[in-house]
Amino acid sequence: MPAIVLVGAQWGDEGKGKATDLMGEDVDYVVKFNGGNNAGHTVVIETDGKREKYALHLLPSGILTPTVTPIIGNGVVVDLEVLFEELDGLNERGVDTSKLLVSANAHVIAPYNRTLDKVTERFLGARKIGTTGRGIGPTYADKMNRVGIRIQDIFDEGILRQKVEAALSFKNQVLVKIYNTRAAEADRVVEELLSYADRLRPMVADTALVLEQALNDGKNVLLEAGQATLLDVDHGTYPFVTSSSATAGGGCTGSGIPPTRVSRVIAILKAYTTRVGEGPFPTELDDDNGEFLRKTGAEYGTTTGRPRRCGWLDVVIGRYATRINGVTDFVITKLDVLTGLPKVPICVAYDVDGVRHDEMPVGQTDFHHAKPIYEELDGWWEDISGCRTFEELPANAQAYVLRVEELIGARVSAIGVGPGRHEIIERHALLD
Ligand code: IMP
Repeated sequence: MPAIVLVGAQWGDEGKGKATDLMGEDVDYVVKFNGGNNAGHTVVIETDGKREKYALHLLPSGILTPTVTPIIGNGVVVDLEVLFEELDGLNERGVDTSKLLVSANAHVIAPYNRTLDKVTERFLGARKIGTTGRGIGPTYADKMNRVGIRIQDIFDEGILRQKVEAALSFKNQVLVKIYNTRAAEADRVVEELLSYADRLRPMVADTALVLEQALNDGKNVLLEAGQATLLDVDHGTYPFVTSSSATAGGGCTGSGIPPTRVSRVIAILKAYTTRVGEGPFPTELDDDNGEFLRKTGAEYGTTTGRPRRCGWLDVVIGRYATRINGVTDFVITKLDVLTGLPKVPICVAYDVDGVRHDEMPVGQTDFHHAKPIYEELDGWWEDISGCRTFEELPANAQAYVLRVEELIGARVSAIGVGPGRHEIIERHALLD
């Protein structure tokens, strides 16, 4: 079977869980291919008939489905403390996590990189990125600078020590002389990382090889992106992005699965737009409508608890996501949040200093100056959470979805109509 990539179309938090729930047990492998514990998804676990909410930041969502093999791919940066905390939390609730595999080539978030992330943001002041402070950026920077620590290094004390000392010879200068903070002690860092070795060893594998064999055996492999298209380090609103490849291409480099084996790209598009952290956001609303979307959509970060910035749907971004990711299917989430609005605006183009732009402006400065040009559709008042077919939706909600589909240039295969796992309309199967 070919592989499927799942990406976010906007700035993250689009609700990828809706699509993974829909594919459910038909998926055999779920691969996290980028990012680290900057992501966040809330999952509901049923133990002895009791429903418990649990926030996962690092582990792939597939960890909760017993038939799925969850994989942390080579493109991920792993905070080992968080990894084991999340595993322990799930084990205590009776979730079997023994199938998890971690790529030997994934990078490790060393404690000094968590420190550097926070002090760099403080140092940047008004120019800060608004990172999650988890050490993501400095760890990817080390990877590119070729001074990173990889999972496999944890099993060779001599190599680990050499690498930590090499990294710290420079970083400690920065920590002490520029940021006026304490130096990191190589011995302590090495000791901390080594303390995870025994537990980590059985999970570590050549995951690219495992995945190649799985595909040859006809298994369904889902490559699940963290963050989203506009947070991608190459294709996002740089520098207000995360430091990894969150678009479909990253699914290949971050897992070792070649592009020729990917058959479908599913993108999740929230029916409105949200963003956490700094950076441009043309349709952002600072008024009652923004507050309505935040309250109705419960838009507060899973990782940091920050209120998310909210705005209307922007299909210039939707079209861009189609193009950059080669989207074959969209899942629109949270359509129910728009219920009750007399008019539902869609941003169809930008006005940049008097010039209309139907596509993303070439330069970042123009994007900062972009003013939304809206098309307004009639709203609907009916509760749509019980709808399970497209035809059951009110006529105006149907018209809204069809117009969005036309504007983004790829078919809408599923529509989320409520927060529950089953509150979704499937128009076209996401798996062949
Ligand atoms: P970092 O990934 O912690 O370096 O943060 C860089 C930017 O990406 C910040 O604006 C974060 O708020 C944003 N970001 C990182 N992870 C997520 C996510 O899972 N959802 C939404 N935004 C995110």
